Amino acid sequence: ELYQATTTAPVNIAVIKYWGKRDAKLNLPTNSSLSVTLSQDDLRALTTASCSPTFTEDRLWLNGVEESVATSSRLTACIDNLRQLRAELEQENPSAPRLSTFKLHICSENNFPTAAGLASSAAGFAALVRAIADLYQLPQSAKDLSRIARQGSGSACRSLMGGYVSWEMGEADDGNDSLAEQVAPQSHWPEMRAAVLVVSAERKTVPSTAGMQATVATSALFRHRADVVVPERMSAMKRAIKEKDFEAFADLTMKDSNQFHAVCLDTSPPIFYLNDTSRACIRFVEELNRSAGKVIAAYTYDAGPNCVIYYTVENEEIVLGALKKCLANIDGWRERDAALAASLPE
Ligand code: DP6
Repeated sequence: ELYQATTTAPVNIAVIKYWGKRDAKLNLPTNSSLSVTLSQDDLRALTTASCSPTFTEDRLWLNGVEESVATSSRLTACIDNLRQLRAELEQENPSAPRLSTFKLHICSENNFPTAAGLASSAAGFAALVRAIADLYQLPQSAKDLSRIARQGSGSACRSLMGGYVSWEMGEADDGNDSLAEQVAPQSHWPEMRAAVLVVSAERKTVPSTAGMQATVATSALFRHRADVVVPERMSAMKRAIKEKDFEAFADLTMKDSNQFHAVCLDTSPPIFYLNDTSRACIRFVEELNRSAGKVIAAYTYDAGPNCVIYYTVENEEIVLGALKKCLANIDGWRERDAALAASLPE
């Protein structure tokens, strides 16, 4: 007797960044955030969840390597929540098999570097939650499941619905209103593209959880960002997306990436996620926009040196052409490191 479900989840790259928790256990953020979901052709997590009365403990394999479930409070939070929902379903349907009483085996694989600032935890936890929810045949919506994925990794809550997704920070102490919401489906702005430049596939120097805790505790700029800047940017970004205003979208995206890295620098001790290659890519995009006479590309960086460049399909040749030429001149860049993943459409 074996029950099984397999699913994939996409990577999302924030254009308004989540950085700071007001509750570290429930993963409640100090500001709302907004992301674009990338195409699953290039970057995704693939997860199989199975359960059986013969399994003796919950187990998880990540890219073939077993990880401890019991010692990860994030994993157990997700699993406990999903099991609870299944138990409720079983109570309402006495004929449903008692899956909530069986142990789980979960197998997850990424097709991109783990913890290199490429949102692997986001896709990973989103796929895990989706796979178990499918296995349990839960009726909950993606929005409801985002509440659970959030407890695995904050950014994971934005990987469950596709397209342009906001994570509304909420106010409740129990996190009930800290949920993801689709701002627009991918089909609303199908011209959008993302190129991912893998500057380094190494693990990040400071994990995001530790980094954001240090920022909240020590940065003087941080409060201003969370209280004043981000709320304004969230509404401006939603408007830019609704109106498909690329220049506004790009301007906000670059400013928010730069401010996020500025609060990292304002943290004590300072956190450096960008390297020389990252900074060269920033100069490249700024120069490209200047020479085009308008904003045709936007860079953004998460907690690592890898660059994501957003542009629209009409400028694909200009952007990717210039990028390839420029990469050849960037010190420290090797062609074989390049993962030019033109992304987005599902
Ligand atoms: C810079 O979601 O990885 O990518 O909630 O502690 O797991 P935890 O953090 P995580 O942080 C992501 C930070 C970011 C910005 C973003 O994705 O919004």
